[in-house]
Amino acid sequence: MAKRQRGRRSRHGLRILVLHGPNLNLLGEREPEIYGDMTLAELNRRIKKHAAAINCELKIKQSNSEGALIDCIHTHRKWADGIVINPAAYTHYSYALRDALAAVQIPTVEVHLSDIHKRERFRRISVIREVCETQISGFRWESYTKALDLLAERNR
Ligand code: DQA
Repeated sequence: MAKRQRGRRSRHGLRILVLHGPNLNLLGEREPEIYGDMTLAELNRRIKKHAAAINCELKIKQSNSEGALIDCIHTHRKWADGIVINPAAYTHYSYALRDALAAVQIPTVEVHLSDIHKRERFRRISVIREVCETQISGFRWESYTKALDLLAERNR
């Protein structure tokens, strides 16, 4: 889909909104055999460190609520040059989240810690993917840093 071209680097660098969906607040204790033992705080620390190295300005939000994630996309629609989103379980059925991303037309990368294509059948379906630049799945925390690199490269 045609996304608006934004984000020519300002003196602030590229502005990226990072969104974590439901249950990702429990990283570190939640199914570590699938998601690893890194906490969300540590994941965010690594994302921020990488963002600083490639001159990106970040806002990060985690919510267990679909509406809160949608509100955050709306609120930051004039601020963000790009979005990195792990929609978690909303990936597989949230048309509301998909519509929010389609509405704001901000280049977005869908990310997953686990490889959703090698898990249960229902996880192979993403209703979000089509409104994103791409989907990066299965690289644990590096899914996020790869997504940042991709958005930075796109705006070079
Ligand atoms: C996830 C994969 C989803 O299927 C799952 O519902 C999650 C996490 C991931 O990062 O691997 O909560 O998005």
